[in-house]
Amino acid sequence: MQSAKRKSKVIIKLGGSLIEKGRDIIRFLREYVDEKEKAPTIILIPGGGPFAEVVRNVSADMSISEETAHWMAVLAMHQYGLLLANGEIGIALVESMKEIDGAEPIRILLPYEVLKADDCLPHTWDVTSDTIAAFVANKIGEKTFIKLTDVDGIIDEKGHLIKEIYAKEMVELEEKGCVDAGLPGFLMQNRMSCTIVNGNFPNRIIAAIEGKETLCTKILAITKKF
Ligand SMILES: Nc1ncnc2c1ncn2[C@@H]1O[C@H](COP(=O)(O)OP(=O)(O)OP(=O)(O)O)[C@@H](O)[C@H]1O
Ligand SMILES: [Mg+2]
Repeated sequence: MQSAKRKSKVIIKLGGSLIEKGRDIIRFLREYVDEKEKAPTIILIPGGGPFAEVVRNVSADMSISEETAHWMAVLAMHQYGLLLANGEIGIALVESMKEIDGAEPIRILLPYEVLKADDCLPHTWDVTSDTIAAFVANKIGEKTFIKLTDVDGIIDEKGHLIKEIYAKEMVELEEKGCVDAGLPGFLMQNRMSCTIVNGNFPNRIIAAIEGKETLCTKILAITKKF
């Protein structure tokens, strides 16, 4: 019988928009999990960033099918994951659901194999790394994830930060903000939530991990009761 308590898991999608700070963020998270006794296991899902941009441009120029572009874009996430880890000791790269369940305190998922093994997401540009992060979180059994990006959250048309919004409202208003177009619908269908945090502020990242209040946008799962 296993005596050690299972650690909780936090799923963090690290946006391609943070490419310049990405490795610093990973090191900072590594220090956090090492120093904090009750820190959760952190599973990072890389965004697509400039690697996905290449796929977008090539697919537009060369009329590549959405099917092909989808897998090329998933491999763009794979490339960003490799860049983020950069071979550093203590940052594990994992490629399957079994490996996701491993022992390392901080892991970066290279998502190609996981998506090939359970190929149920639509192969369109509406479904990119944000929806893939939600999909992986759901597979792990987590009903929420943190999206780190380069803005404070979703900004409304007047330039104000939206602190909370329901996934259903986003679907109805076709509000996209800084998330991929498929994410609100996926969250709604699977009763999931997402916290969007500016990855340039370590204190906000930690607050989000620990479930404390901070400047962010929360996309909520449950619809408002009137
Ligand atoms: N209403 C909005 N609120 C907030 N950001 C918005 C909005 N509309 C557009 N954006 C843009 O979305 C960007 C963040 O999304 P983007 O997809 O570029 O980054 P990411 O999701 O972190 O990266 P990646 O998709 O490569 O993983 C912001 O830099 C901002 O310019
Ligand atoms: Mg994005």
